[in-house]
Amino acid sequence: MSYDECYVKSVIRTIPDWPEPGVQFRDITPLFKDPKALRMISDAFIQRYIDSDITHIACIDARGFLIGSIMSYHLNLPLVLVRKKGKLPGETIHQEYKLEYGTATVEMQVDAVAEGDKVLVFDDLIATGGTILAACSIIKTLGATVSEAAALIDLPDLNGSQKIQEAGVPVHTLLAYE
Ligand code: PRP
Ligand code: ADE
Repeated sequence: MSYDECYVKSVIRTIPDWPEPGVQFRDITPLFKDPKALRMISDAFIQRYIDSDITHIACIDARGFLIGSIMSYHLNLPLVLVRKKGKLPGETIHQEYKLEYGTATVEMQVDAVAEGDKVLVFDDLIATGGTILAACSIIKTLGATVSEAAALIDLPDLNGSQKIQEAGVPVHTLLAYE
């Protein structure tokens, strides 16, 4: 089944003014009720990384876990978790980042990745880029390399993907919503 952008976009739902006025929320939950669309996007990501030298997939809490774990299974690669602060046991390392209003913090276990690892950071969507940049910062502190950041959706008006690339991390997304 070949990738059909129009079909995938037709399945993603836009909810205006959620969670607050002015936000066009791109809701990917219908993708998981549509095996054809889910297979199309999963296969598109798997094809991109099947012959890469990536050693780990770091996926981001919570929507990043859904497609990230499908990729991990099919690529036979270790999956490591980037979680919101306070969810992971054991020794952890965290990074705070700015949201549009206020701050948030993501966290990883210190043994998730190590020097020599080549990590793909995966999330469902890039808005301001703060979440992925915070994940990249932790991964680099642990001594690993971030080979690429990937997401299903880019919101280019918010400049997140540009900021990630300016930080030296290549970005790959399947869909853009202006
Ligand atoms: C959303 C989305 C990304 C992040 C993108 O996560 O899933 O992780 O925002 O925004 P940014 O590029 O401005 O950092 P959210 O924090 O809403 O969490 P969820 O996946 O648990 O719904
Ligand atoms: N995360 C940040 N901005 C978002 C948006 N517009 N839609 C869905 N998830 C988001």
